[in-house]
Amino acid sequence: MGVTEAATGPTTGTVIGVELAGRGYDVHVGRGLLDDAGTLASSFIRKNRVPAVADRNSHAAHGHRLEAALAAKDLGVDWFITEPGEGAKSWSVLENLVDWLLERGVERGDHIFALGGGVVGDLTGFAASVLKRGCGFVQIPTTLLAQVDSSVGGKTAINTASGKNLVGAFHQPSLVLADTATLDTLPDREMGAGYAEVIKYGILGNAKFFRWCEEHGAKVTAREPEALQYAVTQSVKAKARIVAEDERETSGTRALLNLGHTFGHALEAETGFSDTLLHGEAVALGMVLAARYSARRDYITIDDATCVTSAIDSAGLRSEIASLGLDCSGEKLAAHMLHDKKMDAGTLPFILLRGIGEAFVDRQVEMADIAAFLSEQLQVH
Ligand code: GLY
Repeated sequence: MGVTEAATGPTTGTVIGVELAGRGYDVHVGRGLLDDAGTLASSFIRKNRVPAVADRNSHAAHGHRLEAALAAKDLGVDWFITEPGEGAKSWSVLENLVDWLLERGVERGDHIFALGGGVVGDLTGFAASVLKRGCGFVQIPTTLLAQVDSSVGGKTAINTASGKNLVGAFHQPSLVLADTATLDTLPDREMGAGYAEVIKYGILGNAKFFRWCEEHGAKVTAREPEALQYAVTQSVKAKARIVAEDERETSGTRALLNLGHTFGHALEAETGFSDTLLHGEAVALGMVLAARYSARRDYITIDDATCVTSAIDSAGLRSEIASLGLDCSGEKLAAHMLHDKKMDAGTLPFILLRGIGEAFVDRQVEMADIAAFLSEQLQVH
């Protein structure tokens, strides 16, 4: 079904193939992989210096490991280092990065390495997509969210004054190295936010994995190696399967990955896309809302919606929007949704549930009903 999996080994980790004709690649998931990057990525290195992008934090935490791994193969690293945060996904940083790559003579057959979270991956991938009409890149994601979601699937973008991720390209990486040891230094809050995207795969398409998350989620966020390895591997397998089926989000399959994102987007917009609510935290709340709204429409039982709420809650994530203390109405939240980039010919597709593990796209949702529902949810404690 579009995904292959090879054996687990000490140096390669679990290898999941993203099967895309002519653009397929491997995602390696394992502890300590970064130390073997010189071997694992050797077929993507043609020159004795490798261009790499990181932010100040990912460079400080993990840069030395990439340098040592490449030095073992007599290779050096040239770093382009950004400030941490969404500000790096801007026209100006993109311009600086592209100029820097051109000054270094990076060619179409070369690969740029992205060491960091989703921001670094999105920026690097977009620069790679436009440099000389498209060069290669290797993703080395260092956050849980990037390992289970943004590093796989080729969505790259920057933000503009009109909104987030509005300028970008589908440009697949050539290799993804997800070293779960890089999560050892990840702040707990970001670990929780990334976990929302893990449990999302269960809620949208795999009830068995959802039940596993209910039982073992705390071990994942506590970084217990076996549970973390299983959770990241299952997530990447799910994402790889969906991307192989619907690379450019045209058939509706990939849109299912937006579960929780439309409600979540409204909350992120209302909180100014700030640290008040991290993206994964907004997605977690959004999944609770999507489940409750599905129950309101009689697509699922209230018990199923309660299971989703409890699973989010027991992962230490917020599950009630009232707890955000927002001073706004349901109408205002619904209005934010109309700026969502998923708007399509005047309608907003919602990802709802027919059961746990059975998400679907509903294009017939009345925004007035969403506003009324959100007004009620703003009162729930
Ligand atoms: N993060 C959603 C997607 O890759 O389609």
